[in-house]
Amino acid sequence: MKKLALFSILLYVLVSSQSCYYDKEQELYPGVVCDTSAVTFSNDILPIMNASCNSCHSTASALGGVVLDNYGSVSTQALNGKLYNSVAQINGASPMPKGGTILDNCKLNKIRIWVTAGAPNN
Ligand code: HEC
Repeated sequence: MKKLALFSILLYVLVSSQSCYYDKEQELYPGVVCDTSAVTFSNDILPIMNASCNSCHSTASALGGVVLDNYGSVSTQALNGKLYNSVAQINGASPMPKGGTILDNCKLNKIRIWVTAGAPNN
């Protein structure tokens, strides 16, 4: 009888501690959440360009003749297909960022969603 009680307590502790672990998953890994519900040029796309691309693609030093530091130039590359093809590294486009690590899935999804929406100036 004593053994059964001990076993029950052990089982309870095991089960309850596990549910706690899953409850806090979002708190422990906030980066897991990727919000693509309201992608805009100013809040999402331009910051990605500035962080990963504009060391090589600013108006002042535009490698390959590609400028990515203003809406007009980014939308041109978006609508001709090169922007997404280069970051997704597909369809024979020159893989970008050149010599660096491919953008994470969250950033790739945001760029794809914005381009698919017609590259709006928002
Ligand atoms: C280290 C410098 C460097 C960085 C960083 C860089 N690029 Fe480039 N990019 C180049 C060069 C150089 C070219 C000219 C073509 C080539 O040499 O691949 C180019 C060409 C391109 C092209 C034209 C591709 C084609 O197939 O015609 C696009 C679009 C582009 N880059 C987008 C980006 C984007 C978006 C980023 C950021 C995610 C980025 N680049 C980051 C150097 C860079």
